[in-house]
Amino acid sequence: MKIRTGLFLAGVLCALIATPPVARAGLKPGDPVRGKKIFLSFCVQCHGIKGNGNGIAAPALMNKPANFTDPTLWTSHEEAFFLETIRHGRGGMAPYWDVLTPQQIQDVLSYEKTFRKN
Ligand code: HEC
Repeated sequence: MKIRTGLFLAGVLCALIATPPVARAGLKPGDPVRGKKIFLSFCVQCHGIKGNGNGIAAPALMNKPANFTDPTLWTSHEEAFFLETIRHGRGGMAPYWDVLTPQQIQDVLSYEKTFRKN
């Protein structure tokens, strides 16, 4: 009996360790279809309809909005960096933690990744 309980607990522990961080926070992986709607409402004016940073408001900004088509943008930072920018803003970009839910932030980021050229 004791051995069985021990095995059960070991199983639970393994399942917890194997769960990816997104699932642990109660979030589903980002959905680019939902993300597109969010992008068109909140991000397109700076990042542009093609995601290349040439939105209508871009010329008025001190910093150029990130170009999501550029593969080096996505390889030069960890996922946490991008999530942090969307949550708390960075270099001329406003924070969205009080506008978007954590799930919506996952969704919009997954849509932005679809602009990446190879
Ligand atoms: C007012 C213009 C503006 C809007 C609106 C805007 N951004 Fe940005 N965004 C920027 C600028 C400027 C940068 C470059 C910041 C830097 O790194 O200096 C940036 C960078 C980024 C980056 C790359 C990470 C980084 O720090 O460079 C991501 C991801 C991003 N924005 C996502 C979003 C999302 C998602 C939205 C909509 C919810 C959004 N942005 C709306 C201006 C904007």
